[in-house]
Amino acid sequence: MDKFYVLGGNRLEGEVRINGSKNGTLAIMAGALLAKGTTILENVPRIGDVDTMVEMLQQLGVRARYTDEHTVEIEATDIETNEAPYDLVKKMRASFCVTGPLVARRGYAKVPMPGGCDIGARPVDFHVKGLQMLGAKVIMEHGYVEAEADHLKGAVVYLDLPSAGATQHIMTAACLAIGITHIENGALEPEVVELAEFLVAMGAKIRGAGTSTIEIEGVKELRGTTYRMIPDRMEAGTFAIAAAITGGDVTIRDAIPEHCSAVFQKLLDAGVKVDAGPNWARIRAQDRPGATDIKTMPHPGFPTDMQQPFASLLAVANGTSVITENIYERRFKYVSELLRMGADVIQEGRTAIIKGVPKLTGAEVNATDLRAGAALVIAGLAAEGRTEISGVDHIDRGYENMADKLASLGGAVVRSSVAPEAAVKLA
Ligand code: UD1
Repeated sequence: MDKFYVLGGNRLEGEVRINGSKNGTLAIMAGALLAKGTTILENVPRIGDVDTMVEMLQQLGVRARYTDEHTVEIEATDIETNEAPYDLVKKMRASFCVTGPLVARRGYAKVPMPGGCDIGARPVDFHVKGLQMLGAKVIMEHGYVEAEADHLKGAVVYLDLPSAGATQHIMTAACLAIGITHIENGALEPEVVELAEFLVAMGAKIRGAGTSTIEIEGVKELRGTTYRMIPDRMEAGTFAIAAAITGGDVTIRDAIPEHCSAVFQKLLDAGVKVDAGPNWARIRAQDRPGATDIKTMPHPGFPTDMQQPFASLLAVANGTSVITENIYERRFKYVSELLRMGADVIQEGRTAIIKGVPKLTGAEVNATDLRAGAALVIAGLAAEGRTEISGVDHIDRGYENMADKLASLGGAVVRSSVAPEAAVKLA
């Protein structure tokens, strides 16, 4: 099994290109099931979760393949089966979003309850309620959701919380419904807007994406299209925080700074310099970061995905910070690993109090989920000595070539399956 080996102390400097958005790509790949004809997706990140979604579409009997490193072609004119396999859905929650398109195209879907990162209870009740409001008959038993409807019908769907996944899923399902659907209290995430743009390019009629009320007017048929993924704001945020913790000077290219506002604002609060243009941002830091408090919120609030990486920065801040996690209650599993690296964190319930220490120390740690992995790599970059991170497959789910990209900025980061002394020269 590969591990990440990180020797702390190197300043990150230079330029790094951000890949396409993971969450946008996954939703769009599920949405591509609606179209007869060929869909070509460009700027797709080459990561584990996208591989899983390609496999999922293949298992549904759809032609899906990479045509080059970052392009995926999907031909969904014929969908051979209505049942999604458990071994894929348990790996990744986003795969549950094939349910709506399957019902819309084939009248029936049988999909296992999803898995994904272990960051707290992640129910699918909003998804199920949405499908029911659109007229599907839903049965949930033996770990499966079965949904059936000859024709979905437009309806008003109110979400108790602005869930990104449920908004995307219901918006997709409603595209082929008879009549008009209104999603109320919909999510405002850029990936929701991106999905709407993609669906509109396929012939859907959608208004209001990016606001909390989205209107979808059902159409009879959608056609294939070519679409380019937006940059991944979580990858951009991760590299920005990594630059900051090393006192570095890094320019992030092919990013949309506007999508990273909450993270950049907190970096500014911590005394980090952030300059930005239309598709780039330069992150510069010199001194130890200042302490700042974080409350995770639905977009445009501070994203829960960046809570963990940011905690590593706060672990070496000058002062005490308070993190409040409002989205996923168990998104603190990395705390025990940061403690092993010498951090001073008291965590209870949804709150973590982080007393910044002057230095973390390298240790053997385990990445328990995707962003926890990013947090530990970032902590390792600033730690004294070597950090050895296992659970690398979690990192692979969402980051393309993270070790190489950090190394290209001067970070002493190596991914290897063999003892580092023999495999690499760190630093
Ligand atoms: C997406 C992102 C994930 C991110 C999360 C929150 C993808 C593939 N993943 O996940 O990286 O961390 O948004 O920004 O896009 N909820 C319910 N019932 C539901 C659905 C959600 O109670 O049926 C709750 C969740 O438990 C959570 C909140 O709503 O507390 C937000 O979750 P949601 O926005 O749906 O997250 P995902 O779309 O699964």
